[in-house]
Amino acid sequence: MKPLLLSLFTDSSHVRHLQELLDCDYCTVNHHTFPDGETYLQIPEEGVGGLKGRDVIILDSLCLPNPKTVPLIFLAETVRELGAKKVGLVCPYLAYMRQDKRFHHGEGITSTYFAKILSNAFDWLVTIDPHLHRRISLDEIYTIPSQVIHANSQIAAWVKENVKHPLFIGPDAESEQWVSSIANLAGAPFVILEKTRSGDQDVQVHVPDLDVYKNNTPVLVDDIISTAQTMIQTIIHLHKKAMKKPVCIGVHAIFAGEAYVNLIKADVLRVVTCNTISHPTNDIDIYPLLIKGIRNFKTA
Ligand code: R5P
Repeated sequence: MKPLLLSLFTDSSHVRHLQELLDCDYCTVNHHTFPDGETYLQIPEEGVGGLKGRDVIILDSLCLPNPKTVPLIFLAETVRELGAKKVGLVCPYLAYMRQDKRFHHGEGITSTYFAKILSNAFDWLVTIDPHLHRRISLDEIYTIPSQVIHANSQIAAWVKENVKHPLFIGPDAESEQWVSSIANLAGAPFVILEKTRSGDQDVQVHVPDLDVYKNNTPVLVDDIISTAQTMIQTIIHLHKKAMKKPVCIGVHAIFAGEAYVNLIKADVLRVVTCNTISHPTNDIDIYPLLIKGIRNFKTA
């Protein structure tokens, strides 16, 4: 029996893309937010009929996670109650990964609490480049099996095809894991910067002497672009050092508030992201990688 694909928040083009690659059935879910903010969910008759003993795959990224999490948990509960065998979450962008320790006295370690909530609702999880920094595996906080997929090979291939003489730049120590691997795959040099963040919009970046790379095109790579301040502060330094205009690549295009406009204003050659979160800058397709992760759960 083919698995059944469901989604609450993902663009229909992305849902269709996954459905075609995975060769699964798809059914829309009727959902509605009541005036008081509560969620109504209904699986239409054709979906309900086919749920008994069936594997269900729910596709949704968790950018802006709070209003999405409760409806997704309710959806998992609903299909389970209606007979689904296993309910997996394909979550190209997994939220609440950055608060992975108590940085200051009294703080909540929200990545752990979020992991508990999702682990209770789903049977398995597939995601792309979750922000694993101090933790090395999702297994440290998730009690369900998970597949972590890296976008490195797709990013390296994109750069090889689109940028001549790239110099990869990682904005902070956390980024070294993916920037070094992408640079190796692309056969290009890389540098890692030092970053200090003292507030949501308050980022300081230290850029070393880059004189030997004056003829290279800087390619900034980060896992998440949220306020874009990490990239913008780096770009300001690159301009001061009379480097070429940079290409900015993010895996997850959160672009909170005015972040995208501000990044464009910083004077960049191009902004490119993976399609883990729908955004006009999506030019790197990670769906073929997602399929490999999903197949590990033998749903198709
Ligand atoms: C930090 O730990 C992440 O890897 C990114 O560098 C960070 O999330 C980027 O955030 P923003 O775009 O707000 O500077």
